[in-house]
Amino acid sequence: MNMFAFILVIWLVGCKQTASAQNMCICLEPFPSKDKPFNQTVHMASANDGSKRIFLVDLAGFVWIVQKGQILSKPFANITSDVDQSKKETGLQTIAFHPGFKTNKKIYLFYTAKQTPLGNTTRLVVEEFRVKDGDNNTVDTTAFRRLLLQFDAQDVFHFGGKMWFDENGLLYIAVGDTKFIADGNYQPQNMSSMIGKILRIDVNRNDTVRGKPYSIPADNPFVNEPGVIPEVYAWGMRNPWQCTVDKGDPKTKIGKGRVFCADIGNKTEEEINLIEKGKNYGWNVMEGKTNVCPSCVKGGPANISFTDPIFSYAHGPHGLSVIGGFMYRGCHNPALQGHYIYGDYGYDKGLFALREDETTGKWIDRNLTFCAICVKPRIKFLISFGEDEKGEPYVIGSETDNFSGVWKSYVYKVVHRASFKRIC
Ligand SMILES: *[C@@H]1O[C@H](CO)[C@@H](O)[C@H](O)[C@H]1NC(C)=O
Ligand SMILES: *[C@@H]1O[C@H](CO)[C@@H](O)[C@H](O)[C@H]1NC(C)=O
Ligand SMILES: *[C@@H]1O[C@H](CO)[C@@H](O)[C@H](O)[C@H]1NC(C)=O
Ligand SMILES: *[C@@H]1O[C@H](CO)[C@@H](O)[C@H](O)[C@H]1NC(C)=O
Ligand SMILES: *[C@@H]1O[C@H](CO)[C@@H](O)[C@H](O)[C@H]1NC(C)=O
Ligand SMILES: *[C@@H]1O[C@H](CO)[C@@H](O)[C@H](O)[C@H]1NC(C)=O
Ligand SMILES: *[C@@H]1O[C@H](CO)[C@@H](O)[C@H](O)[C@H]1NC(C)=O
Ligand SMILES: *[C@@H]1O[C@H](CO)[C@@H](O)[C@H](O)[C@H]1NC(C)=O
Ligand SMILES: *[C@@H]1O[C@H](CO)[C@@H](O)[C@H](O)[C@H]1NC(C)=O
Ligand SMILES: *[C@@H]1O[C@H](CO)[C@@H](O)[C@H](O)[C@H]1NC(C)=O
Repeated sequence: MNMFAFILVIWLVGCKQTASAQNMCICLEPFPSKDKPFNQTVHMASANDGSKRIFLVDLAGFVWIVQKGQILSKPFANITSDVDQSKKETGLQTIAFHPGFKTNKKIYLFYTAKQTPLGNTTRLVVEEFRVKDGDNNTVDTTAFRRLLLQFDAQDVFHFGGKMWFDENGLLYIAVGDTKFIADGNYQPQNMSSMIGKILRIDVNRNDTVRGKPYSIPADNPFVNEPGVIPEVYAWGMRNPWQCTVDKGDPKTKIGKGRVFCADIGNKTEEEINLIEKGKNYGWNVMEGKTNVCPSCVKGGPANISFTDPIFSYAHGPHGLSVIGGFMYRGCHNPALQGHYIYGDYGYDKGLFALREDETTGKWIDRNLTFCAICVKPRIKFLISFGEDEKGEPYVIGSETDNFSGVWKSYVYKVVHRASFKRIC
C-alpha cells in the first residue's frame, strides 16, 4: 500500500463516527509549517486587500507577515522601541486594518507605551500608521503616525484590546478593566472612564471643536449624556479578549455585522456577548448571569439594566478563561457554517461551537470532534483565534502557561476532513 492510500484508509476509518459527529470532525493543520513557533503571538489578522497575507501580532511590538506559506524575515511593523512589554499582559495587543487599506494604507495598533508621563502607570495607546509607499510589506513607523487615544490603565492585566471597523468605517476599541482583582474598581461602570468599555470613534474626521484627532459618531449612544464620555458605545466589560465580526450567511447575509465578544470572567463564569449599542454587559456587578457585587454600581445613567451574554459557562468542564472565537462563514467546512467556534485558555478541554436555534433564539453548545488522524497540536494553552481572507479559522496556542519572558506560540489552521479534497 502506498503512503497516500494508507493515509486515506486511516482517514476513512478515523472519521467513521456518528453522522453528526463525523460532520463536525476537524483537524488542526500546522501553519505555515510543522512545529515552527512564533514568539508570543496574541492576535492574527488579515488585511482583506486580496493579498491573502496573514498578519501575526507579537506582544514585543512586532507584526509579522505570512505570505504564500512563508514567514517574511522583515517585520511588517516594528514598534518595539515604543512598546512596554515588561509587565504581565503588557505589550502590543492588536492590529486593525482600515476598510480602505488597499488604497489609503492605514493601520491601527493598540499597545502599552513605554515612558509614560505618569511614572509607573501603564499607558494604553491607539495609534494610526501607514504602509510605506512602494513597499506593501512594511509599515513606516516614523513618517506617518497619528496618536488617536491614550489613557492610563489601573494595572498590568486585562487590556482586552481588540479593535475592528464596521461597514461605515467606524473604529471600535474593546478595553478591559485593566486590573487583576476588580474589588473597589468601579471603572467598567464609571461612564467618565475609558476603562471596561467598547469605544467607537470616527478616525476619518478630526474634531476641531474638541481638539481631537478623531470625531464622535453622531449616533453614539451617550453623545448628549452629561458625565458620560461620548466615545462609549457599550460598557461593563472585564477582559474582552476576542471580539470578532460576523461576515453573515454567505447566501442570505443573515447575521452580517454582529459583533461577538468573549469576555473573560473572574471567579465563576465565562461569557460570550453579542455587542450592541448602549448596552451594559455588567462587569463588575454581573459575572455571566450572576450578580456578584450589588454594591459595585456607581455613576452612569440612573436606570441601569444589564444585558446577559448569549452564552456563559461556569468554571469547570469547559475551562476557566474564555478565549473567544469566530462565527464560521468560510467554505471549507460546510458542517461548521453558522457555528461560532470558540475555546478556552485550558485547551485540553477541546474546542466548542455555538449555534443559534432560530426558533427559540437560544444558543446551543456542542463539542467539536477531532478526527482520529489529526496530528496532536503543540498547544496546552489556547491564546487566540484568527481568520484568513476567505473566513477560514486558525487557532494560536502555547505550550507554557505564563506571559513572562518570551514564550513560543504555534499557529494551526482549522480544517475539515472534506477540505483534504479542496472542495472550494
Ligand atoms: C524571539 O525571541 C528570541 C528570544 O528573545 C529572540 O532571540 C528572537 O530574535 C525572537 N525572534 C523574533 C522573530 O523576534
Ligand atoms: C526593530 O526596531 C529596532 C529599533 O527600533 C531595531 O533595533 C531592531 O533591529 C528592529 N528589529 C527587527 C527585527 O527589525
Ligand atoms: C516606579 O517603580 C520603581 C520600582 O518599583 C520605583 O523605584 C519608583 O519610585 C516608581 N516611580 C514612580 C514615579 O512611582
Ligand atoms: C501594493 O498593493 C497595491 C494594491 O493592492 C498593488 O496594486 C501594488 O502592486 C502593491 N505594490 C507592491 C510593491 O507590492
Ligand atoms: C471615574 O472615572 C474618572 C475618569 O477616569 C475619574 O476621574 C473618577 O475618579 C472615576 N470615579 C470613580 C468613582 O472611580
Ligand atoms: C486631521 O488632522 C491632521 C493633522 O493633525 C491632518 O493631517 C489630517 O489630514 C486631518 N484629517 C482630516 C480628515 O481632516
Ligand atoms: C474576583 O475574584 C477575586 C479572587 O478570585 C475575588 O477576591 C473578588 O471578590 C472577585 N470580584 C468580584 C467582583 O466578584
Ligand atoms: C427611569 O425609568 C423610569 C421608568 O422607565 C422613568 O420613569 C424614569 O424617568 C427614568 N429615570 C431616569 C433618570 O432616566
Ligand atoms: C463536552 O466536553 C466537555 C469538556 O471536555 C465534557 O465535560 C462534556 O461531557 C462533553 N459533552 C459532550 C456532549 O460530549
Ligand atoms: C512559565 O511556564 C513554564 C512551563 O509551564 C515554566 O517552566 C516556567 O518556569 C514559567 N516561567 C515563569 C517566569 O513563570
